[in-house]
Amino acid sequence: MTRRFALRTLAALAVTAAFSLPAFAQAPIVIKFSHVVAADTPKGQASDFFAKRVTELTKGKVKVDVYPNSQLYKDKEEMEALQMGAVQMLAPSLAKFGPLGVKEFEVFDFPFIFDDTEDLHKVTQGPVGASLLAKLEPKGVKGLAFWDNGFKSFSANTPLKSIADFKGKKFRIQSSKVLEEEIRTLGGIPQVMAFSEVYQALQTGVVDGTENPISNLYSQKMHEVQKHLSLTNHGYLGYAVIVNKKFWDGLPADIRGQLEQAMKDATTLANKVAQKDNDEALEGVRKAGKTTIYTPTKDERLVMKKALVPVHAKMVDRVGKDLLDSIYKATEFDPAKL
Ligand code: LMR
Repeated sequence: MTRRFALRTLAALAVTAAFSLPAFAQAPIVIKFSHVVAADTPKGQASDFFAKRVTELTKGKVKVDVYPNSQLYKDKEEMEALQMGAVQMLAPSLAKFGPLGVKEFEVFDFPFIFDDTEDLHKVTQGPVGASLLAKLEPKGVKGLAFWDNGFKSFSANTPLKSIADFKGKKFRIQSSKVLEEEIRTLGGIPQVMAFSEVYQALQTGVVDGTENPISNLYSQKMHEVQKHLSLTNHGYLGYAVIVNKKFWDGLPADIRGQLEQAMKDATTLANKVAQKDNDEALEGVRKAGKTTIYTPTKDERLVMKKALVPVHAKMVDRVGKDLLDSIYKATEFDPAKL
């Protein structure tokens, strides 16, 4: 090869590279969004909607790949994957922030801490919620939003009408000291287990029962292996959407703005569909006809509330008295007046 030929070839290669560079530059930024529930749940729908809005608002510059149903990671592994940057975004339930060392999120597990969604939003959509999200930053995690699911009910293979019915029964819970205390207070035996393993554990009798909003129960078909469902609404289960902070801070400002807008829209949707989804899921359980659904009377619910609210005082040191008091203040709840 002559020297001139070689130079010409090199020049030609350089031109080709220059022309193909924009194609590289246009490769979308990919956000892997992992979660553990079915697509047909409040979280599943909101994350899919977020992905769609991101494509629209960024005109394809960012692509969100959603992995539902613990396809990528189970409960505990999710947080680690986010911190390591193996996934960029998650929406773990608020009980699952323990591994980050931010115990304050356990306050959402306190039984009967919110009476209804209105009370909940006073916290999650107000200054207390914002200050909780800010606590994640030193852990390399940026909190973007709170998404609703709903209030949990208990299910089992035997009726759960009174507290005595919980005695000696094993209940699957998420990994949370507060939830452990809740089950023990009722006389049951708490059993921590990943969400993806609950159906089988119920089916094989490894545990007797569980607690979850109905959308989670129904979309995992747990009702097929639970003969009794008691609509106790005894505690809240919802999510914080979080992103790897290094990834987030490294995004161009205009893209970040578009993602924030998409998250705002997805949050509106999440909080709009959550109640409806849970209502429809309950209807689904009813129609399936395999589970006896019990609605506790007002008095029965009050008995359970009086039994479980003392868990707040027992567990207050985990979350801090100031935080608990700020929630009581926002929701105008006074345990002494029960
Ligand atoms: C559970 O593990 O019971 C829930 O946190 C699952 C979820 O993410 O809703």
